[in-house]
Amino acid sequence: MIEVRNIKKAFGGKTVIEDVSAVMKTGQCNLIIGASGSGKTVLMKCIVGLFEPDSGEILYNGKSFTAMKHEERTEVRKEIGMLFQGGALFDSLTVEQNVMFPLNMFTKWNQKQKSDRVNEVLARVNLVDTNKKFPAELSGGMKKRVGIARAIVMNPKYLFCDEPNSGLDPQTSLVIDKLIREITTEYNITTVVNTHDMNSVMEIGDYILYLYQGKKEWEGNNKEIIFTKNKLLNDFIFASDFLHDAKEMRMLEERGKVPPGLDLEGQNPQ
Ligand SMILES: Nc1ncnc2c1ncn2[C@@H]1O[C@H](COP(=O)(O)OP(=O)(O)OP(=O)(O)O)[C@@H](O)[C@H]1O
Ligand SMILES: [Mg+2]
Repeated sequence: MIEVRNIKKAFGGKTVIEDVSAVMKTGQCNLIIGASGSGKTVLMKCIVGLFEPDSGEILYNGKSFTAMKHEERTEVRKEIGMLFQGGALFDSLTVEQNVMFPLNMFTKWNQKQKSDRVNEVLARVNLVDTNKKFPAELSGGMKKRVGIARAIVMNPKYLFCDEPNSGLDPQTSLVIDKLIREITTEYNITTVVNTHDMNSVMEIGDYILYLYQGKKEWEGNNKEIIFTKNKLLNDFIFASDFLHDAKEMRMLEERGKVPPGLDLEGQNPQ
């Protein structure tokens, strides 16, 4: 579990993350959503320690990451896998070398042990026979899967994916989402995903944190988001008239079987 407590971050006097708190549970997909520039990447970088928050605290399984010394942080970092926005594969390295990179950095395994592990994770993301290929020879979806293979090669407890679906068609996005979800439950990982892909929100949003201009505007899950009356969130997710109408239809359909605690007042069918 990861706990984010009252995180603030500014760059040159401009506040980018303002007092954000969240609890991200183990074995589930925790999504950070919001418009471009709302602070998703900055928040994720604060959580993994690539940025130092100005105030607030991050806890990994109850231990304050913020208060840890360098060596202790390195131990936590070994348990973190990250898929960066844009992929960040090394273009001059083959698929195999890319995936092996963390093993070379952090383990003293011999070549056979490393190769076996690389083949295992490549098989897990359905990439066999690509070991000797270079990133430039792969499709966008394949590159993302190499990125995921590299992120999970160290068997992480925590997996961070920054926009895993950017640049992918809807069907390939679904494949990537399903893969992230499967890996999360299979290995009981605390997964954090930054996205503005609404399919992902509905598909894998066990917990959703909606950022608006660096502030937590809403939190909930993929069932609750359908019924939200939060105007900013509604305008964000159901941006097109078509989606807005679809939501209204769904609301009417669901009337009478609304989850407990959700208030549909003001949503009368006319
Ligand atoms: N290193 C930095 N120095 C200064 N400002 C930064 C830095 N990184 C991000 N910012 C600013 O922080 C704000 C939030 O950026 P961030 O990259 O977190 O947005 P995002 O929600 O991830 O957007 P996108 O969906 O486009 O990836 C932006 O205004 C950006 O210019
Ligand atoms: Mg971003």
